[in-house]
Formats: sequence, C-alpha cells, structure tokens
Amino acid sequence: MSLLPATPAGVAQAVECLRRGGLLGLPTETVYGLAADATNPLAVAAVFATKGRPVDHPLIVHLAAAAGARDWTAEWPESASRLASAFWPGPLTLVVRRSAAVLPAVTGGQDTVALRVPRHPLALEVLARFGGAVVAPSANRYGRLSPTRAADVLAEFGERLPVLDGGECAVGLESTIVACLGGEVRVLRPGILTPTAISRVTGTEVLVGAGERDPRVPGAVKAHYAPRAPLSLVSTAALPDCLRECPEAAVVTWQAPAGELRPRPDRLRVLPADPRQFGRALYATLRELDALGAPRLLVEAPPAGEDWAAVEDRLRRAAAAGGLDG
Ligand code: TXA
Ligand code: MG
Repeated sequence: MSLLPATPAGVAQAVECLRRGGLLGLPTETVYGLAADATNPLAVAAVFATKGRPVDHPLIVHLAAAAGARDWTAEWPESASRLASAFWPGPLTLVVRRSAAVLPAVTGGQDTVALRVPRHPLALEVLARFGGAVVAPSANRYGRLSPTRAADVLAEFGERLPVLDGGECAVGLESTIVACLGGEVRVLRPGILTPTAISRVTGTEVLVGAGERDPRVPGAVKAHYAPRAPLSLVSTAALPDCLRECPEAAVVTWQAPAGELRPRPDRLRVLPADPRQFGRALYATLRELDALGAPRLLVEAPPAGEDWAAVEDRLRRAAAAGGLDG
C-alpha cells in the first residue's frame, strides 16, 4: 500500500520513511515533491537516481520554519530576510550562499543553496515532526510534467515509494525561485509571486532571468515540463488552422473558442482566464489529455504580462521539448 492517508497515522508513516532514509511523495502547495532527508547522502543519491536527474542539478531544501535557514546559509542578506518574512510559508524558494554543512550533492557542487518553507499543512506537519530538512525536487521523472495530485506521483514511479495524499495542489506550478546574491535580487524561475510583488517587499530593483548557458540554473534546460505528445503554443488567431492540420489534436484554451474551432469534443479543455486558476489546473489537464493519446497538444498562448509569466514559461519549455518520446 503506497498511498498514505492524510491522517496522524499517515503522517507518522511518512516521517518514519524519511528517518529510515527512504523516499517519500510529499504534497506541497505548489507541486508534489520527491522528499528525502537532506543530511543523508544515500537518500539524496537515491533522489537523483529515481528521477533520472543529472547530478549537477541542485535540489531545494525544505524547512519547517524560516528560523531553520540559518543552519544552511553562510550569509542571510536583508533581502532574503524580508522575502522570507513576507512569503514563507509559501511558494517562494530563496537561493543564498550555502553553509559548509550542506552536502555538496544537494547543491550540485555550487556554493549556493536553495531553501523553501512550503505552505501545505501536511508538508509542514511532516517537516516539524521529522525535525530536520528534506530535499524535494518535483516528484516526476526528469524532464516530465510536475505532479499536482498523489495519483500523478504513483503514475510516475509506480508503487515503489509511499505518497502522502494531500489532495490537489493549490498553486499547481513550481515555486518562484529568487536568488539573493552579491547584493542582487534576481528571479531565476517565474512563479505566482511576481517581480512586482517581490520588489515591493525588498524595496529594490528585481532582475529577471538566469544566465542562459548555465545548465544548473532552472530554465536553461529546454526539455522540461513536457507531456509525451508534442505541445505547441499557438496564438488565438492561428488555432483553427493548426487544428485543420491536425484534427485529432487536443486543445487547451483560456477563453471559449471561436465558432470555427472544432476539436474533438472530448479533447477540448477550456481553463479559467485567470492566471492563478489556469496555472492550478494546467499540469493535471495536460496529463489527462496526454493519457487520451492525442497526437498533439495545442495550447492557446496566454496573454502578455507578469501575472501570466509562470504559465507562459512552463508552456514555452514544454513546447521547446517537442514531446520527449516523439
Ligand atoms: O515548488 C517547488 O519548488 C517544488 C516543490 C516540491 O517544492 N520543487 C521543485 O524542485 O520544483 P525541482 O528540483 O523540480 O526544481 C528546483 C529548481 C531546479 O531547476 C534547480 O536547478 C533549481 O531549483 N535550484 C536548486 N538549487 C539551486 C541553486 N543553488 N542555484 C540555482 N538554482 C537552483
Ligand atoms: Mg522539477
């Protein structure tokens, strides 16, 4: 039985699993994580092996509270302190200088570490009872869509690891990653916390975007967040033509499609035109359409603007991957 219920007994089993050095499917408010004891080298190695993830891609360390960050950092800049107070627990990951105590495997050999206090009540309970920190990359095989439901984690890894059932993730997209380094505040991965919201808290300029050629930085790898079928990001105006070319394609839109757009009815999903609601439903919708065996996924390009940046970023990456099995 690998699904653990959201009960005290389920939480106790989850904590026991982490203590034994096992891997655990852990719900967070963003996506499910593949959790393991951050101080156990064998457990950390198992995370990389299970995901099929290159060892130079660092992991996020999850903590029960901001107070725990001190053990992991060599420097805790004012900007990090303000952001942690404003957004933790929540969908924000802070990249800061690491302390010497952090396992090199966790940081992919870098001198920085990524930290986050998640908001999901079950994640916080597990972390508090475990008493330590856990690494938790998204609980998907490398390059695939992040899971937003316990069943998605089971679909990725089978019955090999216990998954704590925390229901559907409220955010549905991975955390915003912000580096507070060298006096700079820089968004490395867009999420639902926008640069404007971040800048309001730090009172500083906020830079956006990672160094393009560094594979360790999120976003520099194109084959990410991909369903099996090739995905195309298509403007509203171009959708009908694309569908004429590939009538079997599945279609995801954020507004009711115009009259001439006629995909197979079972392959059309109209998601809310609100970026947060769209983001929450996106991965589950893509998984569902992928499972129907559609040869192609056509997704209506989202509107411009920072509120849609996280959705746009994930869709652009999925489109660039071109479908990993294709
Ligand atoms: O919402 C989330 O962040 C989820 C949940 C489970 O917490 N986790 C997640 O982890 O998305 P993962 O491993 O799938 O993505 C973490 C990203 C990676 O792209 C990694 O390169 C980046 O964080 N990262 C980790 N440590 C870093 C560091 N020291 N410097 C720059 N990027 C870092
Ligand atoms: Mg991931």
